[in-house]
Amino acid sequence: MAKLLSLLLLLLLAFLVAVSASVSFRIELTHVDAGGHFNKSELLRRAVLRSKIRAAALLSRPAVVVPKSTAGAPIIPVRPSEGEFLMDVGIGTPPHPFSGILDTGSDLIWTQCSSCILCIEQPTPYYDPTKSSTSSAVACADPLCQALPGPLCYQNSCVYFYSYGDAAATAGYLAAETLTFGTANGTKVTVPSIAFGCGSLNEGSLSNGSGMVGFGRGPLSLVNQLHAKKFSYCFTSFLASNSSTLFFGAQAKLANNTKYGPVQSTPFVISPAQPSFFFVNLTGVTVGATRLPIPPSVFALNPDGSGGVFIDSGTSITYLQDAAYALVREAFLSQVKLQAVNDTAIGLDVCFALPSPPFVTAVIPKLVFHFGGGADMQLPQENYMAIDIATGNLCLAMLGSSDGSVIGNFQQQNMQMLYDLENNLLSFVPAQCDLV
Ligand SMILES: *[C@@H]1O[C@H](CO)[C@@H](O)[C@H](O)[C@H]1NC(C)=O
Ligand SMILES: *[C@@H]1O[C@H](CO)[C@@H](O)[C@H](O)[C@H]1NC(C)=O
Ligand SMILES: *[C@@H]1O[C@H](CO)[C@@H](O)[C@H](O)[C@H]1NC(C)=O
Ligand SMILES: *[C@@H]1O[C@H](CO)[C@@H](O)[C@H](O)[C@H]1NC(C)=O
Ligand SMILES: *[C@@H]1O[C@H](CO)[C@@H](O)[C@H](O)[C@H]1NC(C)=O
Ligand SMILES: *[C@@H]1O[C@H](CO)[C@@H](O)[C@H](O)[C@H]1NC(C)=O
Ligand SMILES: *[C@@H]1O[C@H](CO)[C@@H](O)[C@H](O)[C@H]1NC(C)=O
Repeated sequence: MAKLLSLLLLLLLAFLVAVSASVSFRIELTHVDAGGHFNKSELLRRAVLRSKIRAAALLSRPAVVVPKSTAGAPIIPVRPSEGEFLMDVGIGTPPHPFSGILDTGSDLIWTQCSSCILCIEQPTPYYDPTKSSTSSAVACADPLCQALPGPLCYQNSCVYFYSYGDAAATAGYLAAETLTFGTANGTKVTVPSIAFGCGSLNEGSLSNGSGMVGFGRGPLSLVNQLHAKKFSYCFTSFLASNSSTLFFGAQAKLANNTKYGPVQSTPFVISPAQPSFFFVNLTGVTVGATRLPIPPSVFALNPDGSGGVFIDSGTSITYLQDAAYALVREAFLSQVKLQAVNDTAIGLDVCFALPSPPFVTAVIPKLVFHFGGGADMQLPQENYMAIDIATGNLCLAMLGSSDGSVIGNFQQQNMQMLYDLENNLLSFVPAQCDLV
């Protein structure tokens, strides 16, 4: 009998592995400001403000490596909170809806639980594990519990604390649940036993979401729990109300585009000190006809996890390391033949006054990011110049950073981005994202 049971268990496990190995879906993503009826000027200001909060947390990050054997308090890594795109996830059986922030900058999946003592206002009711037939706790010895930064074991519950810098934090216990993803064609994809944080003490802002869905490189992320070989997203213009799209698993693929050019690829760079982030090898920046003289050390990723350049779903505008940003700024100020102005209201620092409406077409220099392996990302003009309707100013949607650099989603609009984890490549191709 015991033999039969263990055989059945093995079969069941093989079945579960087979199921999770082939999870593939396509879902819609909603921009956090989509429901807010904001005008274009407010949308831009809000995006810049969120970027500043997120970048402050991201770019002041201590290394994630937690020395397990040394005594004393573990280092609590700081991650970005807020974020820009929400995905609808069903949690439990029957599925309880939760709207999670898609975050390539962190790993943990979490939502607020109905037992929360400190709770953030959210658009959907809190998840109640007692109302689900598939809820279970994750044991302290489970590798996923051990993958948390500094887990605590309390009455055999795996207790987590996850801090997102100044902006937000969540603490609770690690549980496992069935997650359901509604696909764009109306069918549903259900996956069992996904570990997630049931948040009891939560504070900060969730950008109108009910939790987060980590897409980072660590073991706790959705990507790694489902053994996904790849995922891709295509963000529509942040001024449009169209939803964006996420492709997960086998459905994530790019095709050469006859109108916009071939698919380009660059290897990800792995940082042992910051293993969750998707670092890339930015080798140069061209403004107009000039490849800027940026020394390689400016974008170098240091062994302690500082510096480097990573690509992020949840920061809006791009931050370049100060030395590189100063050159980009200078190039725009010298090449754009419009009057430079200080537009303090918007929070960007390279702005030009557009001639009064109807705006004559200003000649804007092209902007190209060069990546290792020969991949060039030539940005469409609307991915780096933002018009502030309120003032009529045209501003460069980038800022400087005293530490590392982050390529934000403003620069990824109408660009299909493929995270190919199997081949360790970031691939991209321009696209019209409302039509993919
Ligand atoms: C609907 O989408 C799912 C996953 O995204 C896919 O597996 C399925 O084949 C699709 N069904 C139809 C009828 O297109
Ligand atoms: C939050 O979501 C609700 C419901 O979707 C929406 O009515 C509201 O405008 C949103 N708030 C913001 C600030 O986007
Ligand atoms: C996307 O939104 C724009 C207006 O914001 C609209 O003109 C266009 O038709 C939309 N695209 C799709 C595919 O619905
Ligand atoms: C895209 O075109 C390039 C040649 O320009 C070719 O090497 C590559 O295999 C093509 N990629 C895809 C995904 O079709
Ligand atoms: C903007 O203001 C700063 C200091 O407040 C000043 O140094 C700079 O020259 C000003 N730029 C323009 C274009 O007026
Ligand atoms: C970045 O790319 C350049 C050029 O392709 C290459 O020489 C360099 O070794 C790469 N650096 C890393 C860290 O991969
Ligand atoms: C956008 O909304 C803000 C706040 O409601 C308002 O002050 C501003 O005038 C509006 N701008 C435009 C261009 O409508």
